[in-house]
Amino acid sequence: MGEITIAVDGPGSSGKGTVARRVATALGYQFVDTGAMYRTVGLYCLRDGVDVRDEAGATAVARGLRFHFAFRDGALRVEADGVDVTDAIRAEAVGLAASAVAVHPGVRGALLGLQRALGAGGGVVMDGRDIGTVILPDAELKVYLDASADERARRRWLQHPEQDFATVREELVARDAQDAGRATAPLRCADDAVRIDSTGLGIDEVVARIVALAHQRRGG
Ligand code: DC
Repeated sequence: MGEITIAVDGPGSSGKGTVARRVATALGYQFVDTGAMYRTVGLYCLRDGVDVRDEAGATAVARGLRFHFAFRDGALRVEADGVDVTDAIRAEAVGLAASAVAVHPGVRGALLGLQRALGAGGGVVMDGRDIGTVILPDAELKVYLDASADERARRRWLQHPEQDFATVREELVARDAQDAGRATAPLRCADDAVRIDSTGLGIDEVVARIVALAHQRRGG
């Protein structure tokens, strides 16, 4: 068998992004961060004064964006319409806006074709919320990465230690509820996904487990 497709889903701050990127590097695969696409839509809505609750407005923003993913100095850069948004999309307000626009079927539909195209052909690790359930339902390996809310809040707070821990935890739990509670493509563990709880596990251990699973699925 040739190169496989790996879907990594899970809630915020479960370590998905870091783990998926490292698995891709270990296997020599391409890494696709679908959250970055929703974040970019959120960023442009905030910049252009489009209400994130306005489906038609947010969908027009999503349809109009041209994404480009590039590796520079070993790091993945995200460009939208030729502008590097890699750092801007990491802001907490942009994460909340991303979760809000991701509720709209129109926005999801606008990004679906690009995400499927990037996953076609194998040799890809794609991370998100609905990759194993909706975007790449035939992925050879699906992983659902979870961790307790306290552990995930602690990880996020370590990245933003200037913020109040209780507020960080509250926002995280609210965003999970929005991502898991929406009608279209909610965050959910696919029936055929391998669930890994990373509470108390180091990143190296999680990466090694997934790489071993990938070798198995690839047939050696
Ligand atoms: O993984 P992240 O924190 O960068 O994602 C930001 C938001 O984007 C997340 O709260 C929900 C949304 N998202 C989604 O709905 N579907 C995806 N495949 C990826 C992200």
